[in-house]
Amino acid sequence: MSNEIRVSLTNKSLVTIDDLSNGEIEALFSLADVMSDSMNEQIDVCRGKIMASLFFEPSTRTRLSFETAMHRLGGNVISAVDIGATSLAKGEGIADMARVVGSYADIIVIRHPWEGAAKVVADYAGVPVINAGDGGHQHPTQTLCDLYTIKKERQTIKGLKIALWGDLKYGRTIHSLIFALAKFGANILFCPSSGLEVPEHVIKKLTTEYGGELERYETLDQTAKGGLFPLDAIYITPSQPHQLAMMPNISIQAELKSGIDALYVTRPQRERFTTTEQGQELEKSYPVVDKKLLKSKAFRKTLVMHPLPRVDELAYEMDADPRSMYFKQAARGVPLRMALIALLLGAKEVSIPREIDSFIQKKEYAVYKRDSGIRCSNPRCVSIQETETKYIKPEFKIVNRKPLTLRCVYCEHGFEPKYIASSDWHEGRLDSKKYHSADSHWTRKIKPENLIIFDSEDKAQAMGFKPSSYVRAQSLEK
Ligand code: NCD
Repeated sequence: MSNEIRVSLTNKSLVTIDDLSNGEIEALFSLADVMSDSMNEQIDVCRGKIMASLFFEPSTRTRLSFETAMHRLGGNVISAVDIGATSLAKGEGIADMARVVGSYADIIVIRHPWEGAAKVVADYAGVPVINAGDGGHQHPTQTLCDLYTIKKERQTIKGLKIALWGDLKYGRTIHSLIFALAKFGANILFCPSSGLEVPEHVIKKLTTEYGGELERYETLDQTAKGGLFPLDAIYITPSQPHQLAMMPNISIQAELKSGIDALYVTRPQRERFTTTEQGQELEKSYPVVDKKLLKSKAFRKTLVMHPLPRVDELAYEMDADPRSMYFKQAARGVPLRMALIALLLGAKEVSIPREIDSFIQKKEYAVYKRDSGIRCSNPRCVSIQETETKYIKPEFKIVNRKPLTLRCVYCEHGFEPKYIASSDWHEGRLDSKKYHSADSHWTRKIKPENLIIFDSEDKAQAMGFKPSSYVRAQSLEK
């Protein structure tokens, strides 16, 4: 058996970072090295191919590096950068746009404010689609630039201590990066600005699908709380059981003092704040990274990273500091995106050592597709927008039975619906067609394929179901 495996990504799409295995990411990095070392020799790699660049939210680096990458590969670019100048403004659904653009171009890069929009484009375009940011959901190619930079500077990602700083709630680069770091076995320190903590659905996916443990603020030792920086939680990967908090009697603070490998700073994503959050002036308490903060020994070799653009959270005085990586991260976007485009178009394949295999096995869940009126609870999800509900059928992964938890397949937000029933009621007699509370034992008893889920009693009753005695007792209690 050969010690190498051939990695091909031909005709695949990149919607979330989960779409790539560790081996595929390593393959991409090795091709990016080749692209970077021989930039001027790549001009025939994608000759004759067309990339559609659709950017319906502001962008400098991502769009221009994708377009530069395609030009450097000898391909051509068509673009639309203003939603108001496309037929989406006339009420066209994303799926129709995707079908049409997919018939013009060989590959599509899309940035869109709705969470899950890139998945819809990938579902309908018929050509490879790259998510260049879908609202606050994910931004997988930024994550690839971030990982590539860490790998280049530190040779490995496994076991590193990486602090994520600032807006961990709405930063899509943060969400993709969290899963990627977990995939590669890094320890993550969460340092959110107040009110901008990592969303619960991200934490749940991290702990249930990527293993490891989350030590929250309340359980951290006293010194960690008052320590180097505002620490909210630490995620410790299973590959490093001796690390950080999992070792009994170890001071987290002492561990942290031994050095933070990277500090990943983000700006407040103000454009995604709710009206209430805008009123709270969250930026006023937003922590700033400057030379003073980084003067302690723990930051002596820290890579200071930022996806850019920066606003006020990262001092300009850091630019000349050798620890600063953000302009390198941006520059590496070109060879990295050249490698990605070439792989997805099937213009390149890469061999990698066999031992670089996937660190995490993908978890399979039953999918709930039944039309029982359940809608995603995230107001920014593509699946509930008026133009899209005409053709998108809501779909959810059943990620937990107790409490019953659904995860939208588009935006990945999770929620806990309140009522359930079985499609397998006794011989169809209406008097036994009952609905139950989702927290009753029925939720685990009913087979996934028979499960009917409701978000309100009204919906259950509208479909001819009557409350079971448990539901009745509960409503009498209220
Ligand atoms: C990021 C984005 O668009 O999410 N920018 C980028 O692509 N480099 C980060 C940000 O806008 O803050």
